[in-house]
Amino acid sequence: MDILMLGSGGREHALIKKLKESPKAGKIYCAPGNGGISKDAECVNISVMDKENIIAFAKEKNIDLVFVAPDDPLAAGVVDALNDAGIRAFGPVAKAAEIESSKVFSKNLMKKYNIPTAGYEVFSDPEKAIAYIEEQNKFPTVIKADGLALGKGVIIAQSLEEAKDAVKEIMEDKKFGESGNNVVIEEFLTGPEVSVLAFTDGKTLKPMISSMDHKRALDGDKGLNTGGMGTISPNPYYTDDMAEVCMKTIFMPTVEAMNKEGRPFKGCLYFGLMLTPDGPKVIEYNSRFGDPEAQVVLTLLDSDLVDIVNAVIDEKLDQVDIKWSKDNAACIVMASGGYPEAYKKGIEMDGFDENGQVDGAVVFHAGTKFENGKFYTNGGRVIGVTAKGETLEKALDNAYAAVEKISFDGAHYRKDIGRTRK
Ligand code: AMP
Ligand code: GLY
Repeated sequence: MDILMLGSGGREHALIKKLKESPKAGKIYCAPGNGGISKDAECVNISVMDKENIIAFAKEKNIDLVFVAPDDPLAAGVVDALNDAGIRAFGPVAKAAEIESSKVFSKNLMKKYNIPTAGYEVFSDPEKAIAYIEEQNKFPTVIKADGLALGKGVIIAQSLEEAKDAVKEIMEDKKFGESGNNVVIEEFLTGPEVSVLAFTDGKTLKPMISSMDHKRALDGDKGLNTGGMGTISPNPYYTDDMAEVCMKTIFMPTVEAMNKEGRPFKGCLYFGLMLTPDGPKVIEYNSRFGDPEAQVVLTLLDSDLVDIVNAVIDEKLDQVDIKWSKDNAACIVMASGGYPEAYKKGIEMDGFDENGQVDGAVVFHAGTKFENGKFYTNGGRVIGVTAKGETLEKALDNAYAAVEKISFDGAHYRKDIGRTRK
């Protein structure tokens, strides 16, 4: 099978490396890809949002499968367009991807189908939003932009002042553009966070091994929210008993709810959970693999990803047996100085072999370019250094030892991945 991957991050690099392991994988292309991905796939300069050129390229090259990895093209209906053109695609159609692209939709879905989540209200008028926060007078409170915002559209306000600023930034200053036309104001929950990605064909759901993301920029969970600074898998808080509860109260009810709404979800459904004193609750859904969750989860996948992808598309997921390694995995993100705010690009990187790799770990490239035989930074999250180990400690030691071998000016990474206990 010749495959076209859409996207350019560490997640896409991890997906490509795993797909390549399959004897069924043929030539792999990536649009647009990055420096590290160019060592594993042929990168083509097409935007993930450019439906017309994606379809034209897929036809020209007789692509057997297009894998739509990022949220924006899923929300924009790239899978719908590919299906209409008769091209096989992995990922949910736009109507199903709305489970991520509209928090108002996903919150209302959970309320309607009794799926446990934080209590909330939706507002389209900033004054009414503020009046509600004043009336509740309970802090911290959580303010979320309705639409996609690169994982940055969630503000946890510690006081009325902060809450007012957040509503103003999102709804009036439009910091996240049209994503902020509506806001969700949500009850603040506490407890360890768990990410569970799951394959589903709309009938069967098979959870992947659990993981833990670290969203804040700085050690000790300080600093701004980011797309994710590192991950570990499995998540030490996610016991077998908890998995059973989640399957019964959250995972299958979500699949069934989407079917009842006429929006069957096929692809990778991501559950962002909080294990609260009142049981597990959904913090967010994503309609895709998480980044950097994919880096650790796919590292531990012992089955053929091409087979799984085909089973999801053909609605035969019940027929595949998915195996997971008994090891642990850890991914340390090395970011550009300044990220998630302004940062420089084009900084030369040291320590790699000719493929952008180092001994003892796998380096998934997120924001790099390869020019004149050298790798340069080209994004906020630059690379995800990922290693396995028999224990979490060993996986972390291996990943950090590899991180020490790589350098670039301004490089910044968290020293406490897998060691923070919330
Ligand atoms: P999200 O983008 O919805 O995953 O939110 C980003 C982060 O904000 C989450 O990973 C949580 O750490 C935090 N968060 C979101 N919603 C809540 C909530 N209701 N209570 C406490 N923390 C939250
Ligand atoms: N790491 C969180 C996400 O992919 O949304």
